[in-house]
Amino acid sequence: MTIRYNVQLQPYNSFRTRATARIFCEPQTAGELSEAIRTFSNEQKLVLGAGFNLFFTRDFDGVIIKPGMRGITTITENEEYVDIEAGAGEEWDHFVGFCVSHGYAGLENLSLIPSSVGASPIQNIGAYGTEVKDTIILVKAVDIYSGELREFTSAECDFGYRDSIFKRTGRYVITSVVFRLGKTFVYKEKYVDLSRELEGVVAPTITQVRDAIIRIRTRKLPDFNLLPNAGSFFKNPMLTTDEKDALQKILPDAPVYNVGDDGFKTSAAFLIEKAGYKGKRKGMVGTYERHALIIVNYGTENGQEIAAFMEDIQQEVKKQFGILLEPEVWIF
Ligand code: EPU
Repeated sequence: MTIRYNVQLQPYNSFRTRATARIFCEPQTAGELSEAIRTFSNEQKLVLGAGFNLFFTRDFDGVIIKPGMRGITTITENEEYVDIEAGAGEEWDHFVGFCVSHGYAGLENLSLIPSSVGASPIQNIGAYGTEVKDTIILVKAVDIYSGELREFTSAECDFGYRDSIFKRTGRYVITSVVFRLGKTFVYKEKYVDLSRELEGVVAPTITQVRDAIIRIRTRKLPDFNLLPNAGSFFKNPMLTTDEKDALQKILPDAPVYNVGDDGFKTSAAFLIEKAGYKGKRKGMVGTYERHALIIVNYGTENGQEIAAFMEDIQQEVKKQFGILLEPEVWIF
C-alpha cells in the first residue's frame, strides 16, 4: 500500500477547497485497511469517500484513509432476486449503471448521485422517493480503533433520513456493501418530478427510468467540473406539528410532507428561496440559480468562505422563518 505525505486535498473534495493532509493512504483490501489502522494507531484519522459531500476549511494533521476496494460480485441469485456485493471504492453511478444494464431493480432512482459505494450507506443517500437503505442487506466494515472486521445487518445500520450508525459514530470504515435487488421491474409513481418526466411513456422500463432521472438531474443540478459544489447543502428540516403550523402561518404555500411518526418535513430549497437566497452570490460563493439548495463555488480555494456563506443562509432563514437549517455536507 502506498503511503503519501503532505498531500494536497483539493482534488479530493468536490468544492475544490485547498488543505493539506499530513498522511494519505488508499488501501485496496480490508487487510490493507486493518494494517493502515494498526500502523497509524496514534494518529487522528479521517475517512474520505468520493469527496462529494465534504469540504476542508483547514489542514489535517493526521492520516486520511481513502478506501479503494473494487469489485462487483454476485453472491447468490434465484428467480426473484440477486444479492450483489460491491467494493467501497467503486464509483456509485458506475455500479447503478451495471445493475440497471442487467435488469436488477432497486437502485435506478439513485442514478447519477455523486458518491462511492462505500459512502452510500453513511448518509443513506436518497432521491426520487428511494433511499439506499431499501436495498442494503449487509455492510462490511473495519473498526477504526481495533482494525477488526465487522458486519452490519440492515437493522444494525440503524438508518434514518441522511443518517446511519456510520455517520453517528464515525467509528467504522466501510469496505463493501451487499445489496438485494429484484429481478423484475415494475415502475411505481413516487415522485412528481419523475412522473412528469415520464409522461406519455407506457409502463416505463428500468432503463427509461434511469435515463429520465439522469435528464432531470443534469438539468437541475450544476456540473461539478464547471461549478464545484457538494450537491444538496442542507438537509430538509423535520418539523413537529407546532413548528409546521407556525411555518404555515408565515409561509402558507410552504411544501410540507408527512413523514409518519417523525412528524413533518419541509423543503430547505423553498425556505432558502423565500429568504431571498436563490441565485444569490457573495464574493466567490453563491447558491445555484436553478436550485436554491446547492451552494456553488465560483472560484475560492478557501473553505472558510463557503462556511461563512452557509452561516449567512442559516441566519437569514432562522430570522425569517424560525427554522435552523442543518448542513447535510460535512465540514472539516
Ligand atoms: N424548491 C424551491 N426552490 C428551488 C428548488 C426547489 O422552492 O430552488 C422546492 C420545490 O417546491 C420543490 C421542492 O423544493 O418541489 C423539492 O425540490 P427537489 O425535488 O429538487 O428536492 P430537494 O428537497 O431539493 C432532495 C434531496 C436531493 C435529491 C432530490 C430528489 C435532500 C437534502 N436532498 O432535494 O438529494 O436529489 O430530493 O429526490 O434530501 C443530495 O442529497 O445531495 C441530493 C441532491
